[in-house]
Amino acid sequence: MIKFSPENKTFYLNTKNSSYIINILDNGLLCHKYYGASVAEDNMEYYNLFAKHEYTPNMILNGYTFSKDNLPQEYPVFGRGDFRSPAVCVERPDGRCVNDLIYKSHEITAGVPKIEGLPYFNKNTEGTATLKIVLTDCVSGFESALFYSVFENEDAITRHTVITNTTDKSLKLRSADSLSVDFEAKEFDFLTLRGAWARERHINRRSLSYGTTSIESRRGSSGHQHNPFAALISRNTTEESGEAYGFALVYSGNFRISAEVDQFSSTRLQMGINPNGFTYVLSPGESFTTPQAVSVYSNSGLCGMSHSFHNMCKNHLGRSAEKAVKHPIIINSWEAMYFDITEKRIENLVRSCRGLGIDTFVLDDGWFGCRKSDNSSLGDWYIDKNKFPNGLKNIISICKENGMSFGIWFEPEMISENSELYRRHPDWCIHTPGCAPIESRSQLVLDMARSEVVDCIYNQLAALLNEYDITYVKWDMNRNITDNGSASLSADAQGEHAHRYILGVYSLMDRLTKAFPDVLFEGCAGGGGRFDFGILYYMPQIWTSDDTDAVERLKIQYGTSMVYPVSAMTAHVSACPNHQTGRITPFKTRGDIAQICNFGYELDASKLSSDETEQIKEQIKLHRKIEPMIYNGDFYRLISPFESDCCCWQIAAQDKKNSAVVFATQKATPNSGGFYIKLRGLDPESIYTVSPMNIKLHGKTLMNAGLPITKEYFDFNTAIFELTAE
Ligand code: GLA
Repeated sequence: MIKFSPENKTFYLNTKNSSYIINILDNGLLCHKYYGASVAEDNMEYYNLFAKHEYTPNMILNGYTFSKDNLPQEYPVFGRGDFRSPAVCVERPDGRCVNDLIYKSHEITAGVPKIEGLPYFNKNTEGTATLKIVLTDCVSGFESALFYSVFENEDAITRHTVITNTTDKSLKLRSADSLSVDFEAKEFDFLTLRGAWARERHINRRSLSYGTTSIESRRGSSGHQHNPFAALISRNTTEESGEAYGFALVYSGNFRISAEVDQFSSTRLQMGINPNGFTYVLSPGESFTTPQAVSVYSNSGLCGMSHSFHNMCKNHLGRSAEKAVKHPIIINSWEAMYFDITEKRIENLVRSCRGLGIDTFVLDDGWFGCRKSDNSSLGDWYIDKNKFPNGLKNIISICKENGMSFGIWFEPEMISENSELYRRHPDWCIHTPGCAPIESRSQLVLDMARSEVVDCIYNQLAALLNEYDITYVKWDMNRNITDNGSASLSADAQGEHAHRYILGVYSLMDRLTKAFPDVLFEGCAGGGGRFDFGILYYMPQIWTSDDTDAVERLKIQYGTSMVYPVSAMTAHVSACPNHQTGRITPFKTRGDIAQICNFGYELDASKLSSDETEQIKEQIKLHRKIEPMIYNGDFYRLISPFESDCCCWQIAAQDKKNSAVVFATQKATPNSGGFYIKLRGLDPESIYTVSPMNIKLHGKTLMNAGLPITKEYFDFNTAIFELTAE
């Protein structure tokens, strides 16, 4: 799957359906030859010939004239003839930023190399191979080692770069992308996931044109606004057909993804740490490792691209790839009671869950320090004895008596000014000396770049997890980071802070998840403000959004599924009128839309009507049937809520024996008649019983003629169809 031809000086990286080809020119430049649907291992020497242009510096090689300004390259630099965006920029001790990388050596090994301190695709790597190409810079004296690991079955290639200072003086890294890919065409749509708090990951598709189109985060986390993902897709690509190149970062901090269409109509796609505010001092011999990026190629539309991403996550990404992890059905106290909790109120809530079939009760915010609202106690991770005079022992045993285990909420990266921790260590929050730090939700951010801070939080959390029988942790992060800088860094290293913060967070996640392997950790950042492969390496599921409105969730979950599997998303049934939108939807609708995710409830079970109690039991029964498909099946988007008044998605078991289809109406059209939805992922020759209609149809009938939707649907109505093969 990775081959090197010494005659052609060419590397061929092959996946099941794609080829990625790299070539070393005779002058040592590392040239990108091709990325796309599978091609043969031919000599592609002639594929560079268009790289000659007037009014750009040209070079002559073997009788051909080339311009670096139009030469497709693997890891381009600035200052020696390529005027497009560089992948890396290193400043020399004399302040100059001129770089020139040429090939030095390469190595092909089995498996994937370990990436220290960063999350990466590390599981089930039998059959993968890695190409390492070392480039050396004769102008500034650094080396870039480019790593490409090929995951053949998933049509995916992961990439990261290690930059090493090979001089005896300090160098300053000004930018270092994880991935750079040159395409000779510009006829792409740029598809990204945009959003805001409570409105995450809506699909944003626009055509590329001349100039640079980019998305980024400067918020200290990947953010609600743009997900660290972008796809370059053909203008006619649909769910089922057409080409799609998908790129995602395995990183949770500031990032930038850009697509530059240049004067010659070629496109350069780059992704990595956001260079805005970033610098990194490299002492002699020191290395910097970029976060990992993953690229996938599909010639079967967006669905193929998503399946590659989903399979990479479910099969190869840290905790997300651990099949033994059990994802419980939970009930969470947040929307039920917010901060207004006491042992008695929680006890009532827990007791009223008896017999419903819920696995775990999760005590959300408000249980620690002396937290009565969001303006105190973050950092004081000990139990508020006024609210819980018996510690947590009593509540945990009541949970057990009622058939549930116990989970708890933390916000480990934060500190309130009104807290014991702040009074002891006022300098531990991120702040600019001499300047009051900016508050957000009345809270400050702990400087996770400092190891003593990480140790203190580790010790507090570990003490609780050791003392109590806690099976589930919701790890929140409720603000963006301002005032970047750290007392632990020298003046010229302050530009490292945002990255070192994330490294500190990863180290804490790593220690806790390793020390407590039986605890299920769920990620959260004001809902889905840090929904990325970085977090999914440590935590196999993330609270998708603080917006629990079922109709809003259609777009949020549909958009999220572009990159992330449904096994990574958590969705809960909450009370109505909905707390975020005021909308009233049927209880069944809320259940149906949350079903194909990590399922649960976010309401006061003691206030349920008997009809709702019965519906919960039915929903949980159904979820138990669907559950195996969520973790092992394939997800299909059938009708987009962005393009229609309806929405439809489907999950199908890999052996094609079972499937479930969720159909939802956002806004009904009166007098509109019925229609058919063409299903996917079925065995054409098998006969399926479709309930609730109880009809029998062949897979090929359901996939080609479609599933008939005959009933009239009203606003916010839903239906779930279950398919079982004979
Ligand atoms: C964030 C989370 C919510 C809840 C609150 C608690 O907003 O996303 O689910 O945990 O914090 O303060």
